Amino acid sequence: MAPTCSLISTPADRVRADLLAVAVFADRELGPGAEAVDDALGGGLGEFMDEADFSGKRGETLAVPTNGQLGAKAVVLVGMGKRDDLSPDAIRRAGAALARRAKNVRSVATTLLDAAPPSSDPALNAQALAEGVALGSYQFLRYKRDAKPSRLERVLVIGRNNAKVRAALDRASAIAAAVSWARDLVNEPAGAKAPADVVTAARALLRGTNIKVKVYAGEALERERFGGVVGVGQGSERAPRFLRLAYEPAGAKTTLALVGKGVVFDSGGLSLKTAGGMETMKTDMSGGAAVIAAMSVLAQLNVKTRVLGYVPLVENMPSGTAIRPGDVLTIRNGKTVEVLNTDAEGRLILADALSLAVDEKADAIVDIATLTGACMVALGDKVAGLMGSDDPWVAQVRDAADRAGEPVWPLPLPTDYRKLLDSEIADLRNISSGSYGGALTAGLFLKEFASDVAWAHLDIAGPARASSDDGYNTKGGTGFGVRTLIELATTFSKP
Ligand code: BES
Ligand code: MN
Ligand code: ZN
Repeated sequence: MAPTCSLISTPADRVRADLLAVAVFADRELGPGAEAVDDALGGGLGEFMDEADFSGKRGETLAVPTNGQLGAKAVVLVGMGKRDDLSPDAIRRAGAALARRAKNVRSVATTLLDAAPPSSDPALNAQALAEGVALGSYQFLRYKRDAKPSRLERVLVIGRNNAKVRAALDRASAIAAAVSWARDLVNEPAGAKAPADVVTAARALLRGTNIKVKVYAGEALERERFGGVVGVGQGSERAPRFLRLAYEPAGAKTTLALVGKGVVFDSGGLSLKTAGGMETMKTDMSGGAAVIAAMSVLAQLNVKTRVLGYVPLVENMPSGTAIRPGDVLTIRNGKTVEVLNTDAEGRLILADALSLAVDEKADAIVDIATLTGACMVALGDKVAGLMGSDDPWVAQVRDAADRAGEPVWPLPLPTDYRKLLDSEIADLRNISSGSYGGALTAGLFLKEFASDVAWAHLDIAGPARASSDDGYNTKGGTGFGVRTLIELATTFSKP
């Protein structure tokens, strides 16, 4: 369980907790509450920072002894970087640093919220802080025999009593729970998450919410003409599913569609990946997990728009029944695709999902997918690629991601490159005939299935997974996109 964050107005020197966490800015500029700590140490704080070479850089922490002068049993200094650069994201990271540092105590009080500039929005800062605390405490311990779970139970956020701040802390806890759920599912080994198991996990998560769950399997996949899902799924012993979720609040006037790639394991199929290339491919359902997780909190966050979620779930395996290079699939919207590389499978299942979102008259669609290694070449492993067919809609997605603190960057969809997808025998081929710009040709492929609906595409191949503990991310699944999708649904306006 993530620690709970609550707001208290007790002064830093009197608050009772196992640990008091106070902010120190770059160049050892003391933040709120640090003066009281300095007093308790008889003015020795500067010397202490000197000895430990602590300068107040972002992410630095330093434990400081107290001699019973404070309500807290011990103090930890949290480096915040430059005071003027203190964005909500910096606060989120500081919250995570605090949570990591405090994993062996039960309660922490902190002045971090008061460290933010007075001109900034305390509710946004509080949300970021509480998200950082919860996400920084995240651990995936299910398979560890010597698991040492965090003991942290309570974080007392020192600040003026304010209903908006208290609501923001609650909001953060709902959002962080959704992100953690997505991380858990992504971190789960592929052997333990067949498409049917993901459906079971989604049902368990959504039980008790007003989300309608519909699942297509077997014959129903054929009947609905999900040719991409059936084709990619046919090589695996573990049959595909297509999950459709519906959040339909009374009085909703607009419909947002969320589409997430759900490849529970991507071996590449007959176009087999290398051993190294497969190591992290249990992560290939991160987009789908993000969609399910985001939808689970819409009611709690009082989202007003109708939101439909589409998650095609398959395992991409080589076998005697697998799809072959050169085979042709017919996608739900009738377009035919020559599959020249079975490792370009994500776009095939997303094509079916996009077609259904179009049929169901979404006002706007965003898909999220661990789609291309090429996107990682372009943007590295921390930034998602953002593409789309409608500039205002793409801008709306970008703004939501910025507010949520998830880095995305726009990439073009040059019409000139469309010819790289021309097939000898079908409407399209599933890989480019050229050598470069693989993230863009994948985007252009998807665009063929979004018809004339405003559509945006997030390629999260990089940021879906963290290669090491970093800020509020823990090595492994990050739950990237959950916060963006929630923010997007909360603020959605028909483009
Ligand atoms: N799931 C992969 C993309 C991926 C690669 C995600 C690395 C995360 C890390 C996707 O299905 C894939 O295999 N894409 C191919 C496309 C190629 C065959 C055109 C790729 O990127 O190599
Ligand atoms: Mn692949
Ligand atoms: Zn894949």
